[in-house]
Amino acid sequence: MNQTDYDLLNSQVLALLEGEQDALAAASNFVALLYNAIDDINWLGIYVLRTDELVLGPFQGKPACVHIALDEGVCGAAVSTQQTQRVADVHTFPGHIVCDPDSRSELVVPLIAHDNVIGVLDIDSPLTRRFSGADQAGVEKLCASFCELQETRKYFI
Ligand code: SME
Repeated sequence: MNQTDYDLLNSQVLALLEGEQDALAAASNFVALLYNAIDDINWLGIYVLRTDELVLGPFQGKPACVHIALDEGVCGAAVSTQQTQRVADVHTFPGHIVCDPDSRSELVVPLIAHDNVIGVLDIDSPLTRRFSGADQAGVEKLCASFCELQETRKYFI
C-alpha cells in the first residue's frame, strides 16, 4: 500500500474546486479525487445533514444506505460528537451500519462550515486498521479545505 501524499492531494483539491460555484459538482469531484488517491478503500462519500438525519450524497463505491439517523452508526456518532471517528475494526463498533459487507475499518470526518455540521465524509476500507493517525490528520485537512471552499458558495450541498 502506498502512503497518500496528503499535501499534494490538498493542493489538487484546491486546484480542482477553487472557483467552482456549484456545490454538487464540487462535492462530486472532491469524492472522486479522494477515492482514486487513497489506496485500499472500497467506499468513499459524503452524507449530507438534512434537518434530523443524514442523507446519501456524492460517493464512489457500491450503492449504500440512503438515510442514517443521527443516533445511528459511525456516521451518526461523527455528527453527534462533532469528532472524527477512526474505527480500526467495524465489528467492534456498537451500532455500526453495514452497507458493503467487505468493509472492515472506517474513517468518518464531520464537515463543518460556518460553525455548523453540514454532513460527514465517510471512508471504508476492506482492511482492518487501514487508517493511521496520519491518515486521519490528512483527511481532516482535506475536509477543512473542502468546507472553507463550501463557505464561499451560494448554495450548500
Ligand atoms: N458504516 C456507516 C454507514 C455508511 S456506509 O459505510 C457507506 C455507519 O456505520 O455509519
